[in-house]
Amino acid sequence: KRPAGAPDKELAKKVQKVGIIGAGLMASQFALLFARKLRVPVVITDLDQGRVDKGVAYIHGEIDKMHGKGRLSNDDANQVKALVTGTTDKSLFADCDWVIEAVFEELSVKQQVFAEIEPIIAEDAILATNTSSLSVEQIGANLKHPERLVGFHFFNPVAVMPLIEVVKSPATGEGALSTAMVIAKKLGKSAIITADRPGFVVNRLLAKVMGEAARALDEGTPLPVVEQSLAPIGLPMGPFELIDLVGWKVAAHVQDTMVGAFPDRFYASPNMHAIAELDEPLVKNKLGKVEDLSKAAKK
Ligand code: CAA
Repeated sequence: KRPAGAPDKELAKKVQKVGIIGAGLMASQFALLFARKLRVPVVITDLDQGRVDKGVAYIHGEIDKMHGKGRLSNDDANQVKALVTGTTDKSLFADCDWVIEAVFEELSVKQQVFAEIEPIIAEDAILATNTSSLSVEQIGANLKHPERLVGFHFFNPVAVMPLIEVVKSPATGEGALSTAMVIAKKLGKSAIITADRPGFVVNRLLAKVMGEAARALDEGTPLPVVEQSLAPIGLPMGPFELIDLVGWKVAAHVQDTMVGAFPDRFYASPNMHAIAELDEPLVKNKLGKVEDLSKAAKK
């Protein structure tokens, strides 16, 4: 018997072709996962051919690494590569059943990409957003069929992190929700259904850790001290190395969203924003470099 609140699997749409909007690192990582686990064609697009080619090159490189480690046979590696098509031609999305975006974390940008794709795809295709903290309901506000949009939030590195947050907005229909849950399982991930609230569940917690780490830095605690302080409780990464992994721009954006939503509960760090402007990793396991960069960020 289906547990109370669990979506009805019977309502899930069978996904036979996946479309991905955005060919950055996150999108490329999950494009590979969709091709490898679902074994269906995956089309991936971005603003220009250069970005698309970079995404596809990353995917091919990761497939080669897996083949090198003996995790994909030669035939499988070739099959998965052949399933991924990089294109700037959106008409290739027409027969996708599941289209997920991972473009810049800006409400208007996400609304724009869905406004462009909705007239191209079938009326019953499902749309998903990998937003990490924006409102799924607002992202879908201008859609003709807002019930087909669901949040589907991956974590970095996608190949390794076992969780997906499936975000149910007030508009999300049972078909989209059910499809998301079935896909998450096929991808080999655990899924939790979260409410459409700023930061959902994970970033609401992580933004606290990252924000407080940055506040300690702003208050003058040396960066290596903050970075190493949580190591004894067994976390795999210090807070700043984790921000390196997520990206400082993304982390600063999540922070802004949380501060906007809950000004009395979250903290906007000047250092975090200054480092985000530098647009490069901070820690890279070299704590000497960390101090240099943190001084540079303060100038
Ligand atoms: N792509 C693919 N595989 C990767 C990878 C990547 N980018 N990075 C690491 N891996 C794989 C490695 O290949 C290795 O696999 P095998 O053991 O099967 O060969 C495995 O992960 C472990 O890697 P390492 O041995 O190199 O390194 P590690 O043991 O130090 O683990 C880590 C690395 C898994 C990233 C670990 O440090 C970790 O779990 N860090 C925390 C990550 C985290 O919290 N992510 C969530 C961030 S929040 C977010 O993404 C969402 C948001 O909205 C902001």
